[in-house]
Amino acid sequence: MKGREVQKYKMLIDTDPGVDDAMAILMAHDRAEVVGLSVAAGNVGIEHTVANALKLVEVIGATTPVYAGCATPLVHSAADAADVHGSDGFGDTGYTPSAREAESEHAALAILRASHEFAGSLVLVALAPLTNLALALKLDPDLPLRVARLVVMGGAVSGRGNYGTVPAEFNVGFDPEAAHVVFSQWPRFTLVDWEATMRHGLDFERFEAMLAKGDARAKFYDSITAKTRAWSRERGRPKLLIADALAMAVALQPDIVTHAEEHHVGVELDGRITRGATVVDWQDRLGKRANAHIVLDIDQARFEGLLASAVGAA
Ligand code: RIB
Ligand code: CA
Repeated sequence: MKGREVQKYKMLIDTDPGVDDAMAILMAHDRAEVVGLSVAAGNVGIEHTVANALKLVEVIGATTPVYAGCATPLVHSAADAADVHGSDGFGDTGYTPSAREAESEHAALAILRASHEFAGSLVLVALAPLTNLALALKLDPDLPLRVARLVVMGGAVSGRGNYGTVPAEFNVGFDPEAAHVVFSQWPRFTLVDWEATMRHGLDFERFEAMLAKGDARAKFYDSITAKTRAWSRERGRPKLLIADALAMAVALQPDIVTHAEEHHVGVELDGRITRGATVVDWQDRLGKRANAHIVLDIDQARFEGLLASAVGAA
C-alpha cells in the first residue's frame, strides 16, 4: 500500500550508504516513486557507497538508476565513518556485488536533469554530505525553484554533535563548505538533525524482533547492520540511532512531525573548536531569512510503522 501523501511526488535521494541510508532507501521504495539515487562519498569511499546503492536496489528488486557523485568534499579532506558502518559501509558481509553498474551521468548533473524532468513535483532527500547538491547549486542556482521539497538529514541544532568537533554532525562536518552553499542558497529546507535522531532512537530488542519477522529485505538489513548494532551496544548507547530513516519518515509523511520551528541556520567554517557546527538563530536576533524548518519531534509510533513496512514486517 503506497502512501497517498507522496504518490504524486517523485523522489531523488542523495546518499552515502551506510546502513542508516539503507533503511531510508528501503522506506522510500516501499512508499514513493524513487527516480534516482545520487551517491556521495561520506560514510565510506565513493566506490563502496556506489556499490552499496546498486546492491540495495537489487535486493529491493527495483531498477532505480544510481549516479556516482563527488569522491571528496569540496575543499578539505575528511575522515569517513567506517568505524560505524564497516569498512565497506555495509557491515563487511562480503555480499555478492550487483551485476548492474552506475549510470555514466554525474550525480550533480542527474539532480539538475531530474529537477527539470519533474519540475514542481520532485522531493529531494539529502542523507549524505552535501557535496553533490552544492555542486548542482553552483551549476544552476535556480535549482530550488523547481524542487517541491528538500529534506536534509544533517546538523546538530544545539551543539550536540557526533563527528570531529564537539558541535559537528557527520553530514555537515564531513563537508562544511558544501553545507554552507546549500544552507545559504536554498530558500527553505526541512532539517532533521542528529539531536532529533537521539530523541527518536529504537529499542534494540524490538528492532531485532521486527527484522526477524520481515522478508528478504529484513534479512539483508539484519546482515549489513550486525556490526553497527554491536558497535552501538559496545558504546553503551541505550537505543539504536538511525538518522537517515528519521529524515526519510519526514520526507514520506510530512504530517508525522509533531513539533518544528523555523529559524536561520548557518554553518561554521573556520572555528578552531567549532568547525562544522550548525548555528541556529533561535531568537531570530540577526533578522536573517529563516532558511530551515527544523524538525524537533515526530510521531514515534508512525515512524516505527514505516520501518516495519519497509522490511515486510508490518
Ligand atoms: O550523522 C548521521 C549521518 O551521517 C547519517 O546520514 C549517516 O549515514 C552519516 O552519513
Ligand atoms: Ca547517510
